[in-house]
Amino acid sequence: MRRKLAAGNWKMNGTATALAELETLAAAGARNQTDVLICPPATLISRAADSAGGALDIGGQDCHANTSGAHTGDVSAEMLKDAGASHVILGHSERREDHGETDVDVNAKTIAALAGGLIAVVCVGESLAEREANQTLDVIGAQLAGSIPDDVSGATLVVAYEPIWAIGTGKVPTLEQIGEVHDFMRAELGARFGSDVGDAIRLLYGGSVKPGNAAEIFAVSNVDGALVGGASLKAADFGAIITALDAA
Ligand code: 13P
Repeated sequence: MRRKLAAGNWKMNGTATALAELETLAAAGARNQTDVLICPPATLISRAADSAGGALDIGGQDCHANTSGAHTGDVSAEMLKDAGASHVILGHSERREDHGETDVDVNAKTIAALAGGLIAVVCVGESLAEREANQTLDVIGAQLAGSIPDDVSGATLVVAYEPIWAIGTGKVPTLEQIGEVHDFMRAELGARFGSDVGDAIRLLYGGSVKPGNAAEIFAVSNVDGALVGGASLKAADFGAIITALDAA
């Protein structure tokens, strides 16, 4: 049985005052079936880990493929781990768009994350043009094949399906569309890694998840949780999403 995962991606939001939201979430205590992960900006990881006090997991939003060296402005997996992170988001569409990250880059970063002792949350998702051209499953299949390295397990890899057109827009795919992609991802992972590993990898949906739509999304097959942007910034909203997931 896969444990559920509610993951919050704060993106480039939050200074020290935002830690109060995290403390509120941490004070709610452990959930029965649900792991809770917050990925704040790198500047807050160390303090966030202190604030979480072990009640929540803390993650980064990117890491470099190398362990150290002349890469101004980058952080390595080892550095994230040292700061208190247990996870790292990789291949988010905003990284792919803003920084030109390719599947090859994401693959190398994922290898580095796992070598550094982090759990990788690898993101995939189609653009609106790709969805309208009926290319969604082809795009997702290619991203999974290219971005995920060979040596992964359910303990080290999480996959997040985030349709680019649903991120921050208030638009959400139909439940049928979410289910189609998640069933497809489960089948692709099983075909590549064998059903034991494929069935153990948690699959998150991301893109405009809110307290009001969380329960219906969490009832979709092969949705093991969510990767939440805007609604993860406020403990009241994210707490409601966590509650919906735990009850699903
Ligand atoms: P929103 O929840 O703000 O749509 O963002 C989703 C996302 O990109 C999480 O990584």
